[in-house]
Amino acid sequence: MRLLVKGGRVIDPSSGLDKLTDILIEDGKIIKVDENISAEAEVVDATGKIVCPGFIDVHVHLREPGFEYKEDIASGTRAAAAGGFTTVCCMPNTNPIIDNVAVASFVRERALRSGVVHVLPIGAVTKQQEGQEISEIADLVAAGCVALSDDGRPVTRADIMRNALEYSKMFDVPVMSHCEDLDLSNGGQMHEGYYSTIYGLKGIPAEAEEVMVGRDISLARLTGARLHICHISTAGSVQLIRRAKREGIRITCEVTPHHLTLTDELVGSYDTDTKVNPPLRSQEHLEALWAGLKDGTIDCIATDHAPHHLESKDCEYELASTGISGLETAIPVIMSLVERGILDMNTMIEKMTVGPAMVLGIDRGHLQEGAVADVTIIDPQAVRRVDPASFYSKGRNNPYKEREYTGWPYATIVAGKVVAREGIIV
Ligand code: DOR
Ligand code: ZN
Repeated sequence: MRLLVKGGRVIDPSSGLDKLTDILIEDGKIIKVDENISAEAEVVDATGKIVCPGFIDVHVHLREPGFEYKEDIASGTRAAAAGGFTTVCCMPNTNPIIDNVAVASFVRERALRSGVVHVLPIGAVTKQQEGQEISEIADLVAAGCVALSDDGRPVTRADIMRNALEYSKMFDVPVMSHCEDLDLSNGGQMHEGYYSTIYGLKGIPAEAEEVMVGRDISLARLTGARLHICHISTAGSVQLIRRAKREGIRITCEVTPHHLTLTDELVGSYDTDTKVNPPLRSQEHLEALWAGLKDGTIDCIATDHAPHHLESKDCEYELASTGISGLETAIPVIMSLVERGILDMNTMIEKMTVGPAMVLGIDRGHLQEGAVADVTIIDPQAVRRVDPASFYSKGRNNPYKEREYTGWPYATIVAGKVVAREGIIV
């Protein structure tokens, strides 16, 4: 099986490549990147399109096993493919939780059978994600987990976090920390600031995140382990991580499309799709996040795709679940930052390809000859309106609904096979 991606602008930030060129794929591998390749192959005409290494999302919730009414591996990976992603890492807050070999193996097998993109499971830091006892890290890594996280909740005990970091070092996997001081965020509905006062909703101060980012940086310094901070949302977090990186601490972090583009003002719609954890912050935080992306403090963009069932969103703001079903709008939303001149195209692609690959330490996110042929093609001219009703994800909770965006995924190629075209699974 040969596939020829022809005539596109190929951007591969891992090598600095940015030119009109062709890519020849055979048996799931990239065999040649060159101008004017002629070969007998199925042709993908990429004229006018942007051709990139396959996009990697280090933070998604696929909900299977246990919450298949919200999402399952089949629907979640279709949402990923339609959204332009070729690899997703799934968080362990399932039921049962991915804290042992059996569940990790189940997820991997299921992904091979019903998934349409690569799925890399993340194992729990602690048993049952209860924060009291470290999970069997060696077993989880042997079963294919690429990182450890109790995402959804923080590891509140510093001694447990310290031990987890200590153990993770033996296997060289990152610990992905959901930074939230529960005493400070307690009962909060949105970012604490001007708008929380106006709207009369209890606030979550930026410090609820920053206090724990600070703690974890101290523990990363102490242990020398690889620390990854999930979904950073505040200026203070950017500053702390920037300083830690300068100090040589092994720390990486991610930011979501929604924290880069939406502010707390939007919560005034009382649309529960704006409810997310950490909460949407104010403009000055957004600007600090943009600066963090540009200067390399922030390593990657991750969706924190968190599909929820209609019932848990179709209710009062206070009662609603937190999360955004984001896989299918990530590219257009990020492209809007490029259009506004906030981010350049190459930086955006870097944060979706080689950036996340480096966070995980995996050999992905580039178009080197011999690499697995994962390719994301974007049509920068495509104009579409966000319509959650047409999502492959079972989660329709998306605050961008009805908005029109320019720049959508054109084709998603996973291991040499076209799995999605213009948002439709093939
Ligand atoms: O908004 C969120 N939703 N934040 C998290 O940390 C967890 C996630 C979920 O699992 O729904
Ligand atoms: Zn989280």
